[in-house]
Amino acid sequence: MSTHIAAKRGEVAETVLLPGDPMRAKWIAETFLDNSVCYNEVRGMFGYTGTYKGKKVSIQGTGMGIPSSLIYCHELINDFGVKNLIRVGSSGSYQKEVKLRDIVIAMAASSTSGINNSRFINSDYSPTADFDLLMKAVKYAGEHSIPIKAGNVLSADEFYEDDFDSYKKWAEYGVLCVEMEAAGLYTIAAKFNVKALAILTISDSLVTGERTSSEERETTFSKMVEIALGIL
Ligand code: ADE
Repeated sequence: MSTHIAAKRGEVAETVLLPGDPMRAKWIAETFLDNSVCYNEVRGMFGYTGTYKGKKVSIQGTGMGIPSSLIYCHELINDFGVKNLIRVGSSGSYQKEVKLRDIVIAMAASSTSGINNSRFINSDYSPTADFDLLMKAVKYAGEHSIPIKAGNVLSADEFYEDDFDSYKKWAEYGVLCVEMEAAGLYTIAAKFNVKALAILTISDSLVTGERTSSEERETTFSKMVEIALGIL
């Protein structure tokens, strides 16, 4: 057992899907896995291990934002030997061409978070997806006719920013959408030499102000989870 995860070593799989919302972790386990067992309820941050098409996989909620998600990623890697971390989450579009319900694979993650400022003083680090996981996700999506977009995303520290228009600067530089965890995930994965990928579904648009209904979010979430599990 680690500080925040009440599992024994061996109870967590080498590959873990990471939704921010712990109820999504429960939903993914119940919908997609066989023989799933809940290994964590500490702080309501559910974690499950089961099998998908015979392969062992875990699903762990991380909470919202880089500080919360890094606690879980750190313990999964260092206390449970996790090797592949795949975030599955929602995201807000920064581009007209990135529509509601689109799936975006984060090749890289820019950030407004301070986590890397203290690590790389006066320099910028580029948090980047693992190439192997990225290629597998792209291949799976292609073979199953699931349209995807891929590019740079923003991992923001604030959901509600003072200056709403600040997104336009990132948009001008080609950033596709905003979420709150990928840059932290890619950085910690690099530090501990494990693989990470973030797959996102567009749930709202800062360009048009539209947002998906909770029902729609469930359907589109399924496609994203299918790609993540397809990587196995
Ligand atoms: N996740 C989904 N939509 C988001 C948004 N607009 N900002 C940050 N994270 C998000």
